[in-house]
Amino acid sequence: MKLCVIGTGYVGLVGAAIFSDWGNEVIGVDKDASKIERIKAGDMPIYEPGLSEIVLNNIKENRLTFTTSVADGIKDAEIVFVCVGTPQSETGAADLSAVWEVAEEIGKNLTGYKVIVTKSTVPVGTNEKVKTIIRANAKEGMEFDVASNPEFLREGSSVDDMKVPDRTVVGTETAKALEVMTRLYTHLGKPIVACDLRSAEMIKYASNGFLATKITFINEMAQLCERAGADVCTVAKGMGLDRRVGPAFLNAGIGYGGSCFPKDVAALYKTSTDQDYDFSLLRGVMEVNKAQKDHFVFKVTRLLGKNLSGKTLAVLGLAFKGDTDDIRESVSIEIVKLLRGMGAKLKVYDPEAMDNAKKVLGDVSVEYCKSSYETMEGADALFILTEWKEFSGIDLEKVKSLLKEPIIFDGRNMLDKEAVQKSGYTYFAIGKRTNGVEKIDSRKSDQRSAFLTNGNGH
Ligand code: UDX
Repeated sequence: MKLCVIGTGYVGLVGAAIFSDWGNEVIGVDKDASKIERIKAGDMPIYEPGLSEIVLNNIKENRLTFTTSVADGIKDAEIVFVCVGTPQSETGAADLSAVWEVAEEIGKNLTGYKVIVTKSTVPVGTNEKVKTIIRANAKEGMEFDVASNPEFLREGSSVDDMKVPDRTVVGTETAKALEVMTRLYTHLGKPIVACDLRSAEMIKYASNGFLATKITFINEMAQLCERAGADVCTVAKGMGLDRRVGPAFLNAGIGYGGSCFPKDVAALYKTSTDQDYDFSLLRGVMEVNKAQKDHFVFKVTRLLGKNLSGKTLAVLGLAFKGDTDDIRESVSIEIVKLLRGMGAKLKVYDPEAMDNAKKVLGDVSVEYCKSSYETMEGADALFILTEWKEFSGIDLEKVKSLLKEPIIFDGRNMLDKEAVQKSGYTYFAIGKRTNGVEKIDSRKSDQRSAFLTNGNGH
């Protein structure tokens, strides 16, 4: 099939690469000419395992080309995918200006029947508006259909997620559009959820809202486990083996971040209030997620004090999760900023996100290190903030020889509690009683609520 993919961000670039790898002829469109040049040279604008090989291979096979012109991109395409960004606006709703702009350009340049598919995450009713805009800009009598085909890929594993999706959601209004879309996906042998436009749009938000809620539930359980003397990892394992619950997305931590969950939960909540309904569960999810990092930082202040001047802290992990260089809405970055705000000097390391982190953290009180171990030299405590697999394998004896004090704050439960404590560390994790928690609990001083309400918590 001949396809056009507009937008070369995570969804667009990975989409164009995989569609071409399936044997389709794909044209990727982006108005940023320098980005297109980089991609063509095999220099991917995002870090995504396996992506550059697929892109370069399909460029070589002449199945994948790029242009900056929407008109050229859509001319011969049977399907046009809209994969532009839909960031969060000030109201919490998705900012759809890029979608409207592209819809207008598609309308102006339509030369024959095509299915115009929105793959970007967009709120209910967007595809209907896309149709209206295209219609208003297209030549009289021009035929086209719109479709909603939300993408569920995760950063860091997007290539595999797209190659082997659990399901494909296709919202259409006509049998013709459904037939075209089915032709593209049927070879996967995975369920195709064929439905109306509005339900397709809602499925994407419902999925992300539910997953964010699942993480938030286990984070709340972690608070409870820590106080009650249970271990949240064991509790999650016991829950996850029930097939109705499932083991995925039950890792307690410092809260969810990234370019999707925070914005999608806010947008879904905004959709509910727009419909005169208060989706109070989602309101709770947003509040709890915001507080999760404060609970973590609170523990730091209980051990090290609220004035961290003169302290050097080693930080492993800056990306919003492992296997990505993305720092958008990264809770690690927020925690680094909080610690720096209290006077600490930070020595940081991330396997892929250093360049991006430099852009937002700058140089003040932050030293960028070349390895995990370099961060620890002379530091007063070690923080693990992103779930990169390599951090779970750190050599505890070596770490102890490098740190000034053997203190570890493990925000992702990466280390084995028994092994760490046996090695003589003061250890803090999420949702488990550790010797660190016992140490600060034995002190009588200030209370958590005081910290969270006096302006130090955010
Ligand atoms: C998410 C959805 O998973 C994906 O389907 C959608 O298309 C885009 O949004 P992504 O943002 O790439 O994907 O990352 P994901 O792996 O879902 O993680 C999101 C955040 O939740 C990260 O900050 C991660 O650290 C956190 N998380 C995830 C947890 O804290 N615990 C978990 O158990 C899982």
